[in-house]
Amino acid sequence: MKAVKTKEQQEIIEKTAAFVQDRLKDAESGHDWWHILRVWNNCKLILQTEEADPFVCELTALLHDIADSKFHGGDESVGPRIAGEFLAAVGTEQEVIEHVQNIILNMSFKASLGEVKFHSKELEVVQDADRLDAIGAIGIARAFNYGGYKNREIYNPEIPALENQSKEAYKNTTAPTINHFYEKLLLLKDKMNTDAAKLIAKGRHEHMEEFLQQFYGEWNGER
Ligand code: ADP
Ligand code: NI
Repeated sequence: MKAVKTKEQQEIIEKTAAFVQDRLKDAESGHDWWHILRVWNNCKLILQTEEADPFVCELTALLHDIADSKFHGGDESVGPRIAGEFLAAVGTEQEVIEHVQNIILNMSFKASLGEVKFHSKELEVVQDADRLDAIGAIGIARAFNYGGYKNREIYNPEIPALENQSKEAYKNTTAPTINHFYEKLLLLKDKMNTDAAKLIAKGRHEHMEEFLQQFYGEWNGER
């Protein structure tokens, strides 16, 4: 049977959403409140068919980007600490707080290097929800927005994409935005944890493939 949220849990989720929306009002557009709202929606979509604790998943979707370590001298503990302090203040039980903190810590960059070891079904759901926001139409928009912010070319046929770069390597390149599709975005569908997200990712992936075909066709004056 699917877990349902209690009225108290629903109230904590609503308070958390208000807290996050307020805290992120001046955030950069890659990780602003709209990103959080989309990840929260993705999370609820995944939960329609996956068995996981919706309370933990939704809280973590809301709090996962509360403090980007990039803006805190690389300190990965700031996000989990702020999330924990807030959740305690609104009366969340300790077990839930620790679970949320563990997921946030393990979704971070350090975790992607395999330095932190924690695993749960709820982590899988929230990680998938976050990754889904990097692909499809939204993913395309976010990529070009990021590239524009970094003043990159949209495409340059003389600069080939390099697959399998480390996250830091591609962050430091000045490669055109189209390359990011081959370096990261087209690889994400195979990184999904849950069957629900794999299915959603399939459609979003096809949309990116179609976009790229259309893009090259127009670039070459073929259509
Ligand atoms: P995450 O939310 O996983 O930490 P990032 O901070 O790396 O993601 O990126 C935020 C958004 O910017 C994502 O949609 C990502 O695809 C996009 N992005 C990151 N690096 C690049 C790049 N080199 N070129 C284009 N888009 C990028
Ligand atoms: Ni995120």
